[in-house]
Amino acid sequence: MLFSFVASVFAIVLAVLPFGRAETNLTAAQIAVLVQRLADVTSHSWEYGTQSQTLIELKTPSFSVLNDTKVPPSHDAPDSLRPVFDIITEIVVNRSRLLEEGDYEGPQPLFPDEGSSADPASNGVTALIANWTRQSTDKIDFGQAAQDQMDFLWSSGVPKTTDGAISHRREEAQLWNDFIYMVPPFLAYDGVLKGNQSMVEEAYNQCRLYRKYLRDWTAGGLWKHVLLGSWDDQGYWSTGHGWAAAGMLRVYGTIKNSHYAYELKRELYDLKSWVSEIHDAIYPYMVSAQPTHREDGMFHNYANNPSTFVDAASAALVASTVYRHALLTETYTHIPHAEYVRRKLWAPKSGEGNDFTDPSSFKDFVHFTSDGYLTPVVNPNNFVSEGEKSPEGQAFVIQMWAAWKDWVAHGAPGADGERHGDYDSADQTERREFAAHRSRMARVRRSIHD
Ligand SMILES: *[C@@H]1O[C@H](CO)[C@@H](O)[C@H](O)[C@H]1NC(C)=O
Ligand SMILES: *[C@@H]1O[C@H](CO)[C@@H](O)[C@H](O)[C@H]1NC(C)=O
Ligand SMILES: *[C@@H]1O[C@H](CO)[C@@H](O)[C@H](O)[C@H]1NC(C)=O
Ligand SMILES: *[C@@H]1O[C@H](CO)[C@@H](O)[C@H](O)[C@H]1NC(C)=O
Ligand SMILES: *[C@@H]1O[C@H](CO)[C@@H](O)[C@H](O)[C@H]1NC(C)=O
Repeated sequence: MLFSFVASVFAIVLAVLPFGRAETNLTAAQIAVLVQRLADVTSHSWEYGTQSQTLIELKTPSFSVLNDTKVPPSHDAPDSLRPVFDIITEIVVNRSRLLEEGDYEGPQPLFPDEGSSADPASNGVTALIANWTRQSTDKIDFGQAAQDQMDFLWSSGVPKTTDGAISHRREEAQLWNDFIYMVPPFLAYDGVLKGNQSMVEEAYNQCRLYRKYLRDWTAGGLWKHVLLGSWDDQGYWSTGHGWAAAGMLRVYGTIKNSHYAYELKRELYDLKSWVSEIHDAIYPYMVSAQPTHREDGMFHNYANNPSTFVDAASAALVASTVYRHALLTETYTHIPHAEYVRRKLWAPKSGEGNDFTDPSSFKDFVHFTSDGYLTPVVNPNNFVSEGEKSPEGQAFVIQMWAAWKDWVAHGAPGADGERHGDYDSADQTERREFAAHRSRMARVRRSIHD
């Protein structure tokens, strides 16, 4: 597979020429459509958690740990948090109803019926924010809901490995790379709000343990998807790399923006390196210069397996983490890749693309259906097959847009391959990104022959 990939390097020259088209962007009206479609199809615990995080990144940067505002945030909730509070309110109301039926108190996940111990916890941060900004009422206690969820993770109801990794599943100890997005950011945020340094350190520790098990040096540092337990998935599932990088960046941002930043310098350094490691491992597998538009800039569902379909959801999430990595840690190595992916994801099928008579229209895009769903995407409920309307995919492409917009607002550092470049024309950027990709491929080729 690598050989054909390497061979394709030379074809890139032809595919990328001729240079010269206008900068691609989505309109505010199109982003609103993507946000609506995300809401239309969200139905599982981790999808609500991811949706909430996406809305915070998009609309309320002052409460996003990926921004440079302090954690803990203000006690005053801006109006823009309302949609996020609506989501967590529904979750906590549903939880109370289910708990009443079971007449049960004490350690409990936010979604009592789930087989995953980790996925419900993806809503932990929003429960904490609701509590912090005093949204609780006589009937709805966000603090208690968050505390019960946290206690549950540490209870005997959730298996652990002998070295202390919290299981992704309830029925047996099993590690999934998705976990990194669901649990460590909650541990870190709760630790900062409570002023409990050992909890913040535990967020780091869970990332460390999961990486220890799942990262595979024989595959250049790609992460396996699922290990331990009665079955596994040792493939290098592309979306999992995005979950892991995005989760570690949220832990990074939480610590960096808190008063533990100095104390936990070493942990910050590791998290930053581990995100780079994921980018370095997966980008050599980005599909480029393929005959169809649809494949260009994407990852195969299993990064190193070209017989699996191409997936835009993982391409979007991983690219969003490249922009956030640049903003948080001044790491610019893979900016050219992210820019390549972004242009492909927003590319029109033909002509000008955006229809300016209807700024919300998606009628002519390679990677969106006419009603505004990202495509092609993995099925979030069956990770080996292609899906249709993916809540994750919607969330990831919005996260990528929000991250890109913040990065542009900061002067697009790294766009010219230097430390602090100015954002300039698409032509030059594309030439440079192509040159960077070519030298990276040359490295891959050398490593095969060595
Ligand atoms: C992209 O479009 C959005 C929405 O119209 C706008 O707010 C943003 O400034 C644009 N970004 C760039 C870099 O042109
Ligand atoms: C809450 O429960 C209702 C009724 O079962 C269900 O339709 C809805 O999707 C649930 N909401 C959440 C956020 O889980
Ligand atoms: C919720 O907020 C209250 C103060 O309003 C605080 O005492 C409590 O510790 C918070 N709970 C959690 C889980 O953060
Ligand atoms: C801090 O959190 C840990 C769990 O990581 C807990 O065992 C400990 O009691 C907490 N410390 C304080 C002072 O609350
Ligand atoms: C933080 O959010 C503000 C407001 O949207 C934005 O201008 C700024 O670029 C963001 N900072 C970072 C580091 O993302």
